[in-house]
Order: sequence, then structure tokens, then C-alpha cells
Amino acid sequence: MNVSDSELVESLLIKEGYEPTNKVNEANLLFINTCSIREHAEDKVHSQLGRFNLLKRKNPGIIIGVLGCMAQSLKHDILENKSYVDIVLGPDSYRKLPELLKRHKFNKKSIVDTKLSKFEVYDNLFPNRKNGVNAWVTIMRGCDKFCSFCIVPFTRGRERSRSIDGIINEVESAVQNGFSEVTLLGQNVNSYNYDGFGFHILLDNIAKIDGLNRIRYTSPHPQDITVELLNIMAKHDNICNSIHLPLQSGSDKILKRMNRTYTNAHFINLAKKIRQILPNVGISTDIIVGFPGESETDFHDTLNVMKKVKFDSAFTFKYSPRKGTKAMEYNDQVDENIKQKRLEKLISLQNLHTKQRNQSLIGRIEKILIEKESKRDERKWSGRTDSNKWVVFDKENTKIKDIVDVYIKRTSGVTLFGEIYNKAKAA
Ligand code: 5AD
Ligand code: SF4
Repeated sequence: MNVSDSELVESLLIKEGYEPTNKVNEANLLFINTCSIREHAEDKVHSQLGRFNLLKRKNPGIIIGVLGCMAQSLKHDILENKSYVDIVLGPDSYRKLPELLKRHKFNKKSIVDTKLSKFEVYDNLFPNRKNGVNAWVTIMRGCDKFCSFCIVPFTRGRERSRSIDGIINEVESAVQNGFSEVTLLGQNVNSYNYDGFGFHILLDNIAKIDGLNRIRYTSPHPQDITVELLNIMAKHDNICNSIHLPLQSGSDKILKRMNRTYTNAHFINLAKKIRQILPNVGISTDIIVGFPGESETDFHDTLNVMKKVKFDSAFTFKYSPRKGTKAMEYNDQVDENIKQKRLEKLISLQNLHTKQRNQSLIGRIEKILIEKESKRDERKWSGRTDSNKWVVFDKENTKIKDIVDVYIKRTSGVTLFGEIYNKAKAA
């Protein structure tokens, strides 16, 4: 979402006559788009701001801006302790950037605008996309779910959806500009609702766009995954066979405390239903360990759900207390060492599952969209299966954005290795 928001900001600035540069020493304007989801993300922003400050000492004309989710929590700190920051803008205020930059030229005071909007969806403001394979398209913003650990409803405000027409226009223009994949984005992407039209209707319409080879979306909430949505995914070949299904915890006690609105039995059933309707689907997840009050038994409940669902991959996190959230007020916070041990156990179980899931692809032929050169070997390409697994293979006579049949030969665990399949060679 932040990459996508930065592309929006870039397009606003280009319209004002600015140009992007890769040379940080030459920039007149240094903006950082920030994330508050965990303390680690915020720490990285503080270090980066320290580096920006050094640059500004050498060149006092530089304008420094902090954008996005941390704007809210940082505004006092910035006004009081970081006087080198000129502009602080929340995620709903980007449109004001050109006007604020002009104002700043006359009046050198710090400018802060962190108001959240019930309506801003940046419709008709096309992002400035880099040439590439995948275009991010934001379809809704904000979150009304209020999971008790999560800062997002406070930093990004209430849920609101873009018009279907606006989204289709943007996807069509991305396809015309050479993108063959789009990823639809939203904090709660499947809560999409515009004038009563839900997410599955939007997907059904986007899938009909000519020349669009692949559609992905992230991040959904398990509560809003409907049979209609799964049926639309099954109906269209260009909707990727992949679902991100954040579990967070496998303990009913913790799920309730997290305000996640499902039980572990619901979740396991949902995963089963997904695999029935979408055979060979890739299912990834997010899991938090060490949420306040998580006992050893609760943690084992999480491991048990993992064993039942056998996710293809998982993003795993230690619970990080966020100011203003309900979970931070609980007085049974889990010790850091215990969090670390649980995280390690969870990762090693997931590694095993990822390997097993990947091994089941060996001997199959998968359609791969070529995305980039392999980091380790310039003679090879990297691309993804439609179920979202990375595959590395010899380039032969193919190019980026080609979709090729690849025969899967082996896996290192996370990555798959194969070779381009052609019938003549096989015969
Ligand atoms: N601590 C740790 N992980 C968190 N996430 C959200 N808030 C927190 C937090 N306070 C994780 C969730 C979410 C993912 C994007 O980040 O797992 O799905
Ligand atoms: Fe945060 Fe996602 Fe829960 Fe919304 S649904 S509060 S973004 S974890």
C-alpha cells in the first residue's frame, strides 16, 4: 500500500514540475512514506530521518516530509523535537501537497495535516508507475474492523471504496501501458462495497478486461471471504489461484481478545472450502505470537491450526504493542524471550509446510509469468506460479512479461527450480 501511495505522491509532484532522482544527495525534496504497524517499522523511519537531517545540515534548502501512517503519531514529536522536518502529511492529505509546498516557500514554518477523510479515495489521480510487470491498484482505503492489536483503523481511518468505473479505467490504462498483472489493494480488500456492489462483482468485471493476464488482491479478512467470491475466482482463469488468509492466532480465547470475529473451527472450514472450490490454490497467512495473555496452550492451538491447514507460506510476527490500541492496555503482556522462542518454533513448522507444499509441485507443468532476472544467476529468470510461488529457470529465448510453461524439477524449500517446457523437447 505504501509503494502504491508513493506512486500517487510521485504523480502529484511530477505535475508540479518535480523530477524523481536516485541520487539522494541531489534531491531538493526528501519524503518518507511511513508505516506504524510494528515498532520495528517505526524504528526504521527514525533512523532514516536521522540520515535526512545530516543531508539537510549540509544543504539547508532541502525540504523534508513525513507522509503516511506515522504522521499522526509523530506530529507532536516532530513539532517539538525534529524541527528539520518541514511537512507532515497523513494518508488522506496527499492532494494538498502542491499547495502546501507553495505555502512553505513563503512561510518556512513546519506544516502538519493529519486529518483523516471519510471520502478520499484518490479517484482520477493515476499513480506514476515504474515500468514493470505488476501494477498496484488501490480499490478501497481504511479499516473498520478494529482488531485489538492493530493501529491501522486509527492511522488510516474509516473504510471507503472507489467507484467500479474509476477502478476499471485505471486497470485498462495500466494494461495499455504494458502491465500484464494488477494487484488490487485495500487494508480490507474484500470489504469493498461501492453502491451495494461487493468485491466479487468488481472482480468479475475486472477479469473481463482484454489483455489482463493476471489479477491478484491483498489483504482480505477471512470474515468477508464468500462462496460468491470463490466462485468468481474459479470462473476466471486470469484471477490468480492464490489467497492470503490471515489467521493471526489459532486459539479461540486469543481470537476473541483480538476481536477477529471467527473461531479456529470457522477458519479451518473456510480453508477447506477454499481448497474444494479452488483446487491447487496457494494459501498464505499472517500469524502473531505473544499477543497479551497467550499461554503455551494457546500457542499450541495456533500450531495445530497450522498443521491442519498447512499454509503455503506465512508472514510471522511477534506482537508489538501499539499506542492507542486496546491490546496495549492488557496487563498480561508476554515476555520478549517467550515471544522469540514461539516465533522460532512457528517459523520452523512453517518452513516444513512450505517445503512439503512446494514438493507437491515437482513433476508438474506450471504457467509462469516472467517478472525479473534471478538475483543469483543472470542466465536465469524468476517468475511466479499463479498460486504465488517463485520459480527460477534458464532464460532460453524468452523475455520479461512472457507467460511460459515451466516443468518443475526441484525445490530448495521456498524457491522452486524448473525448465521451460516445450513439447518438441519433451518428445
Ligand atoms: N504486532 C504484530 N503484528 C501486527 N500486525 C498488525 N498489527 C500488529 C502488531 N501490533 C500484523 C498482522 C497483520 C499484518 C499486516 O501485520 O498479522 O495481518
Ligand atoms: Fe488491522 Fe487488518 Fe484487523 Fe483492519 S482487519 S484492524 S487492518 S489487522
